[in-house]
Amino acid sequence: MKELYKLENVYKTYKNYDTDYHALKDIDLTLNKGEIIVILGPSGSGKSTMLNLLSGIDSPSKGKILFEDTRIDKMKESELIDYRANNLGFIFQSYNLIPSLTVKENIELGKELSVNPLSMKELVNQVGLEGHFHKYPYQLSGGQMQRVAIARALVKNPKVLFCDEPTGALDEETGKKVLELLQDMNERYHTTMIIVTHNPSIADMAHTVIRMNSGTLVEVTHNKTVQKASELRWA
Ligand SMILES: Nc1ncnc2c1ncn2[C@@H]1O[C@H](COP(=O)(O)OP(=O)(O)OP(=O)(O)O)[C@@H](O)[C@H]1O
Ligand SMILES: [Mg+2]
Repeated sequence: MKELYKLENVYKTYKNYDTDYHALKDIDLTLNKGEIIVILGPSGSGKSTMLNLLSGIDSPSKGKILFEDTRIDKMKESELIDYRANNLGFIFQSYNLIPSLTVKENIELGKELSVNPLSMKELVNQVGLEGHFHKYPYQLSGGQMQRVAIARALVKNPKVLFCDEPTGALDEETGKKVLELLQDMNERYHTTMIIVTHNPSIADMAHTVIRMNSGTLVEVTHNKTVQKASELRWA
């Protein structure tokens, strides 16, 4: 099966006194397995809301959300916990590392409960953290911390990696290195990556680009050729 997610007629509505505010309205969308998907849009357009619905952190007010043919919008909280634990990884703009744990221990946290973990040694080499294994987060640069966060998210070998502004706190050179790593991991493990960003340059490395505005999809495009992260222009 090629389709990973399918959204049908999805709304997320908040009550504001007696008026309804639609953070997402009437979304129909299919996301394919193994792709890098970039979601672009101005502040308040619904990007984080979309990630929260796909990852089961929040539920839609209306409509269907299917993950591999299973309705996640119908799941109970306990089922959602299993869905997230078994299938999803997350990285954020702030790396969310535990300051009192070493690089190795931080990455190992991601392995917990995993049925199919990757080899720690192999992963640490791939993300370029050899030699930093026993350091603490304060001894690392921003780019290195984000690498630890990526390794921690990938070590359980998730089907989907959600990335909310993964390069938001990084300079161009370091940001590109982090994106190269994500691209590399996508090719190696076929992990579907859903990246939310304000940086339109990142769209060129995506297989699919989703542009949002005011809670709707403005455009969904599929790139015929995908650019290497190292060759991106930077906005
Ligand atoms: N719990 C909530 N209650 C009411 N309104 C909300 C709530 N969560 C989000 N919204 C509104 O929904 C809209 C979409 O928010 P969302 O966080 O998805 O935007 P975004 O595209 O991620 O923005 P940014 O780029 O600033 O992160 C915003 O107008 C926001 O104020
Ligand atoms: Mg957001």
